[in-house]
Amino acid sequence: MTFLAPSILAADFSELDRQIRSAEIGGADFIHCDVMDGHFVPNLTFGPIIVKAANKITKLPIDVHLMIENPDNYLDDFVNAGADFLTVHQEAVIHLNRTINRIKELGIKAGVAINPSTPVNTLEYIAEYVDMVLIMSVNPGFGGQKFIPNSLDKIKEVFNLRQKLNANFLIEVDGGIDVNTIADILNAGCDVFVAGSSIFKADNISAATIELKNKIKSKAY
Ligand code: DX5
Ligand code: ZN
Repeated sequence: MTFLAPSILAADFSELDRQIRSAEIGGADFIHCDVMDGHFVPNLTFGPIIVKAANKITKLPIDVHLMIENPDNYLDDFVNAGADFLTVHQEAVIHLNRTINRIKELGIKAGVAINPSTPVNTLEYIAEYVDMVLIMSVNPGFGGQKFIPNSLDKIKEVFNLRQKLNANFLIEVDGGIDVNTIADILNAGCDVFVAGSSIFKADNISAATIELKNKIKSKAY
């Protein structure tokens, strides 16, 4: 199974309702919400209030990517706002096993993300407990950046780790995904494709979503 998760970071927030619906019409599977605190990453975006708004606009699962320090302080707020997935950065959490357990105790899916230069082996003793591993294929903080090529090796490494552990977490890739990069990312083993600017900066959001969806439909494994 493969899933397309448009990132609203690239959306026009004065038209969030219409743009999320356009992506949904185009076949979006999740809505990806990039939460940034200006500390963990050099950008400031939004908090639970936008997750709550997205949850009112669509019935699609809301995939919340926490690029924040001390995410433990905000887990309840995002769950109450309607997050279906909560992904924390391995680099931002001291007691990751405890944080992942807490997210699951709150009844939603738990994800762990790693930055482009963070080795996959840092996930060796947490991967079996998570529902999703997010591989950052750009430096977190901004949309519209170029895909970092050695991310493909990391996707393959995470795919092999999942096989070794006989685990069933989803592999999500985030950053620089467009019609030119998506095939290699698919073949490397990605399940969930986060795309921001290639969808929401397109002239026709639905058509751009359909085009990316068709590129990932081809693989059933
Ligand atoms: C970056 C975010 C990504 C970003 C993707 O920190 O985590 O989700 O919004 O945007 P594009 O698809 O434009 O690279
Ligand atoms: Zn993201």
